[in-house]
Amino acid sequence: MRQYIFGNPLEEFAVVEETDKIIVTSELADKCPVSNMKWEINVEDGWISFTIPLEKNDIVYGLGESMHGINKRGGKYVSYNTDNSHHSDKMHSMYGSHNFIVIDRGCDKSAQGFCFDTPARVVWDIDVDDSGEIVVVCETCDMRLYEISESSENRLLTAYDATRIFRWAIGESYIPPIWAFGFCQSRWGYKTEADVRNVVKKYQEADIPLDMVCMDIDYMDRYIDFTVNKKRFPDLKRFAGEMREEGIHLVPIIDAGVKVEPGNETYDEGVENGFFCTNMEGKPFQAAVWPGMTHFPDFFQASCRKWFGSKYKVLTDCGIDAFWNDMNEPSIFYSEYTKKTSSIKMLINFISKSAAEKYAELDNNAYKDYRHFYHYINGKRVLHHNVHNQYGARMTQAGGEGLEKLLGKGNYLLYSRSSFIGSHRYGGIWTGDNESTWDLLRTNVKHMPSLNMCGFMYSGADTGGFGGNCTRELLLRWLAFSDFTPLMRDHSCMGTRKQECYAFGDTEDFKRIINLRYRLIPYLYEQFVEAAHNGEMYMRPLGFDYPDDRTARVIEDQLMLGQGLMVTPVLEEGATKRDVYLPQDMEMIRFDGYTFTKSEAAKGWHEIEVPINEVVFFKLPNAKVMVTREASKCTRDIDMNDLMEL
Ligand code: GLC
Repeated sequence: MRQYIFGNPLEEFAVVEETDKIIVTSELADKCPVSNMKWEINVEDGWISFTIPLEKNDIVYGLGESMHGINKRGGKYVSYNTDNSHHSDKMHSMYGSHNFIVIDRGCDKSAQGFCFDTPARVVWDIDVDDSGEIVVVCETCDMRLYEISESSENRLLTAYDATRIFRWAIGESYIPPIWAFGFCQSRWGYKTEADVRNVVKKYQEADIPLDMVCMDIDYMDRYIDFTVNKKRFPDLKRFAGEMREEGIHLVPIIDAGVKVEPGNETYDEGVENGFFCTNMEGKPFQAAVWPGMTHFPDFFQASCRKWFGSKYKVLTDCGIDAFWNDMNEPSIFYSEYTKKTSSIKMLINFISKSAAEKYAELDNNAYKDYRHFYHYINGKRVLHHNVHNQYGARMTQAGGEGLEKLLGKGNYLLYSRSSFIGSHRYGGIWTGDNESTWDLLRTNVKHMPSLNMCGFMYSGADTGGFGGNCTRELLLRWLAFSDFTPLMRDHSCMGTRKQECYAFGDTEDFKRIINLRYRLIPYLYEQFVEAAHNGEMYMRPLGFDYPDDRTARVIEDQLMLGQGLMVTPVLEEGATKRDVYLPQDMEMIRFDGYTFTKSEAAKGWHEIEVPINEVVFFKLPNAKVMVTREASKCTRDIDMNDLMEL
């Protein structure tokens, strides 16, 4: 992998391995030395554009959490982290920005990989209008370009080879404890310990496995980070202990913004030490999020990260070892720059508007806000807009480093909404506020391999959808896919229909589907850990494993998983069958909730029946897949010394 340095970029965050470095001097500026590529540097207007030609059958993989297909051709994308819940192909920006692509040029040419490493805004046009080229405009002149190609490695690379080289260079992905592979129930709306206790009880009554329950913002005192509402959770330590006896880990949320409230410890310490982002006058910048007016910690400062990471102690002291970091794009509802009033009343009106209106405004407002506050980076004031995409990632770094100190490596779960390549070393991600639609179930499938390419292995979507009302059928099919994703969490927004497995009448079908997860956990976790250690991908497009197979190369609704499985989820409403393509002879495995039935299946197309309470997947011949003998009620009860071979 070779690195081209333009101007004065920030210290490396995405990449940790040493690479060959080429400084782009004025001579090079006019003549791009990367084969196929052209670049144009416009210092006056502050951007660099890159143009890469594509052949008709080339496939473009990558871009992590972005919309469109696994093949990114034909799409426009804007890397500019955004809190917007309308996930569709028309949405160009998501919560994370992952500027890594691999161009697969067929089996007789080498694949090429490129990482456009800048925390600034990046606009991608990947053969939109059949232009036959990729145009990437980076809105900065201070950045790094990483190139992976045949010339630097001296051999033809497959798309997977190019990805592996990148994965090695960006360092080992975060590995959570095994219980993080258990099933998690969440909803914005569990307010008290009685609510949480009730969720656990209902799962136990239905005999459905469960390992985690999330605590959304209502557990806090008026949404203030690192506080606990004493009326709702009078003794969190006792309650967390009570839950742990049942095998349950509580997962509280931590938001980026710290409420402006003198007297509150986090606020006072942040102000005293200059840990908050500042406005044009050098005073802490204020913007409204859930708690009302907040200040944003300046996670770019190492001392701020250390401080914020140490604050999790308030909760780890209660026996909590799992967290989700949220609102860290950062999401902004309004500020003095974008709204005339800053009264709390206004905020309350604002958040009770329909989600659609809220987010439409949010998008525009935040864009202006990001040009009104500053960070201190290496002693210099830097406008947030110029480093925007790394903000959430630096919060994950703060949390990850803090939790490692408090609890020890490998002993905590952490996942975040916003991300940037680099934060995959400190925690996982979930893909934000999706909706209860079949389209977004399909999106979940497409996101997984692209995220893995960029290092984000512990990831998953809000199973069943966050917004909107989920149907019984959609939840069952979604769970049947989430059975295989590292994060398996059912999460929904308040105001939507109840989405727990027991909220749809007869629970037997749900039990059967989640039982599969608890049979597979030893294999899934083993494959995950191995993939993380070896810079491999846990979930891959078929084309990565079968680069010579033209059919496999265009399949977007089946994924390879670990060394031995292929996942073939049902993704259409009303379907009881689906077509599956086998790039080689495999074993078909049918799970009915209690037993696995195996049959031989030959290379080629097959129509398979998949009743709503069954899961069908495939195993490579000779793959050793160890599973539990029966589904336990939580991961704690799995006996790793008493497994059986599938
Ligand atoms: C954001 C999160 C969502 C959470 C809500 C309330 O929208 O993405 O998961 O439930 O905030 O905290």
